[in-house]
Amino acid sequence: MEIVICKTKEEASRKAADLVAALMAKKPKAVLGLATGSTPVQLYKYMAQDCAAGKISFKQAKSWNLDEYLGLAPTHDQSYRYFMDKNLFEHIDIPRKNTHVLNGLAKDWKKEVSAYEAAIKKAGGIDLQVLGIGSDGHIAFNEPGSSLASRTRLVSLTPQTVKDNARFFKKAADVPKQALSMGVGTIMEARRIILLAFGANKAEAVKGAVEGGVSQFCTASALQMHPDSWFFCDEAAAAKLKLRKYYAWRAEEALKAELDA
Ligand code: PGA
Repeated sequence: MEIVICKTKEEASRKAADLVAALMAKKPKAVLGLATGSTPVQLYKYMAQDCAAGKISFKQAKSWNLDEYLGLAPTHDQSYRYFMDKNLFEHIDIPRKNTHVLNGLAKDWKKEVSAYEAAIKKAGGIDLQVLGIGSDGHIAFNEPGSSLASRTRLVSLTPQTVKDNARFFKKAADVPKQALSMGVGTIMEARRIILLAFGANKAEAVKGAVEGGVSQFCTASALQMHPDSWFFCDEAAAAKLKLRKYYAWRAEEALKAELDA
């Protein structure tokens, strides 16, 4: 686990974008795992800028998203498919048919999730997975209490997550209470994981994920067991880490080695 700590979320997102660019340069057919929420928006802007500048291309890439609200159509402006189109896919050269988001309207969710997992496997597995972190330590919609071996499935959101997400909906009652989500076990199979965390309201979750015990009560803590996981934090999100100076120093070396490779 490497913890990159930057002054601002822009700086942290730029560094994360550098890792994406390095992957795309090495492997144009890369398989990306993508996340929604406010956290990755700046990373996606940098990916779009790098693509527009001709530095990288996503023409041969494929993507699978982490989750989708149950009951929202892909055209709903709060669906994660809509979010991805507006915040990334319409600004890069990835063919739309190569982008995959779980179908929140699937009649048979069990069929939907098993086909989703099978498609990821068939594509060779995820090379790089982007993650945010919930204020309760969740990754994707793997809320506290989710098995660390969980697979893509139907999940119920905690009242805290519903509250956190209410800011995107007209009224709190409109926030879906269920979603389809990749499991922690599914996420852990990605070859590289990049988690982004910004702002003081993520500090407790980051502390739990990095310095707490590995526990289903903070599902991001599973990343301690991953051989190639990176946290990109701003100073506010990293503020509660005991060893933050050590992590920052070590990560600077690791990132440099990675980008020079
Ligand atoms: P946020 O959500 O990026 O909107 O803070 C992160 C998450 O819940 O995973």
